[in-house]
Amino acid sequence: ITVYVPHDSAAKSVGADDVADALERAAAAAGQHIKLVRNGTRGMLWLEPLVEVATEGGRVGYGPVRADDVDELVRSGMLEGAGHDLYLGLVEELPWMRDQQRLCLARVGVTDPLSPNDYLGHGGLAGLQRALELDPADVIAEVTESGLRGRGGAGFPAGIKWKTVSETEGELKFVCCNADEGDGGTFADRMVMEGDPFCLLEGMAIAAYAVGAREGYIYLRSEYPDAATAIRAAIEIARDEGWLGDDVLGSGFSFDIHLRIGGGAYICGEETSMLDSLEGKRGMVRPKPPIPAITGLFGKPTVVNNVLTLASVPTILAQGGEAYAALGVERSRGTQVFQLAGNIARGGAFETAFGISLADLVHEYGGGTRSGRPVRAVQVGGPLGPYLPGSQLDLPTDYEAFDAADAMLGHGGIVVFDDTADMAAMARFAMEFCAEESCGKCTPCRVGSVRGVETIDKIINGEDTDGNLGLLNDLCDLMTEGSLCAMGGLTPNPVKSALSHFPEDFTQKREVHQ
Ligand code: NAI
Ligand code: SF4
Repeated sequence: ITVYVPHDSAAKSVGADDVADALERAAAAAGQHIKLVRNGTRGMLWLEPLVEVATEGGRVGYGPVRADDVDELVRSGMLEGAGHDLYLGLVEELPWMRDQQRLCLARVGVTDPLSPNDYLGHGGLAGLQRALELDPADVIAEVTESGLRGRGGAGFPAGIKWKTVSETEGELKFVCCNADEGDGGTFADRMVMEGDPFCLLEGMAIAAYAVGAREGYIYLRSEYPDAATAIRAAIEIARDEGWLGDDVLGSGFSFDIHLRIGGGAYICGEETSMLDSLEGKRGMVRPKPPIPAITGLFGKPTVVNNVLTLASVPTILAQGGEAYAALGVERSRGTQVFQLAGNIARGGAFETAFGISLADLVHEYGGGTRSGRPVRAVQVGGPLGPYLPGSQLDLPTDYEAFDAADAMLGHGGIVVFDDTADMAAMARFAMEFCAEESCGKCTPCRVGSVRGVETIDKIINGEDTDGNLGLLNDLCDLMTEGSLCAMGGLTPNPVKSALSHFPEDFTQKREVHQ
């Protein structure tokens, strides 16, 4: 009997390790032999710890399971897939799973993350194998055809970035994976690294082959110790298996990957600060140009891509760029891993083709707010993303449609707020966050964010409201136009959107009926 209990840190945070221990004890006491697999999470975080049992008809789920539930579950026949209050049925048939198009997450939650056989048995390495049979330029053409855009947030076409690196002269080139997933409410990079680390390594190897790099770095935030453990182990295994090293899959292509852990600075998710940090310096933003594709790590041509971008590449190579481009809308092709967080009934990761509306994600799949109160605002794209009012959620998830609506898709994080949220406090938080995380290199951001907090405080306290509102708007414009990077440049997004959609929060104490 094979039983799956996630090893993902979200599942562990709600007791998955205790559930796993309890299951082994209960099965032994019942004289039943089980094979316990610690998989990644399926992304249905409200059901964690989600225990799955392999049956003839497929994997059935039970959740959320507490360690205290286990004895009774085993007694009532869970190991045979029997019914129970916590019985969910076939996991793949749950609406949340059934309605997704999981490419990046295809194996996450399904396989044993560190089993090479499981990886190969579920389509692993098909992309790298095909890439190695192609000319590097054809690999780039395939990625370009797929329409894949940077999933870190900016949405720059990956194929064009790779082409720039490949066409830049240089004996030494690098592939750097940005795994400094700093946006509050996002966790998809972590899910991939913990649940399917080989997929990221495979994507990096394909990128390296395409551009002519022989060394790769993963820059991982220190707040993700479980992902670090998984990636470290996966690199060792991949080396042993010949998936990395001097002769990748017997092709003669040489590529190795190193893991580096950040020190906890949000700004090190900005690509040039990340490169500084990788070089052993304090992470400070470098002016662009030169872009990292031309002058990157140690001054060499460097591909910098986010985890989700690189983890999308194996599928693109395995199934062809055309198949990937067949999904999505307009210039947003393929799939996006949306992450539902904040005040949401069913939070988690949902991968589907671009074009799905925010309303469908928040209401149909997310189930609305956890509190059961109306959705007042939704912040998409991290702490630097603007707030959208609950009435504007019919927006399709498409980079350009978001742009036209003064919104941003960013890394796909969707944070929901109910009608008790104080949007003036959220605007203040944006400025405070910027003041805290600013690298300090340029004045609009370093000084502007501190002045922003002070000015919002004055507005909230009713001091010369009109004058200070004018000042705040001017300050926001200055930060947008004068900041060196997106940190200072995007901070006005949440502030200005809160001001325009929820002006009442800045000028009066709003009565909220609990
Ligand atoms: P950007 O627009 O400056 O650059 C996007 C990417 O395209 C960069 O890698 C850049 O080097 C590359 N690029 C630009 N022109 C190129 C060319 N001609 N050839 C090759 N490559 C080229 O945006 P930036 O500052 O890198 O990212 C800003 C975004 O980051 C924001 O929109 C936000 O959504 C996102 N973000 C994500 C976070 C996360 O945790 N994932 C945290 C904070 C922000
Ligand atoms: Fe540094 Fe802020 Fe300027 Fe970016 S905008 S370079 S984080 S001071």
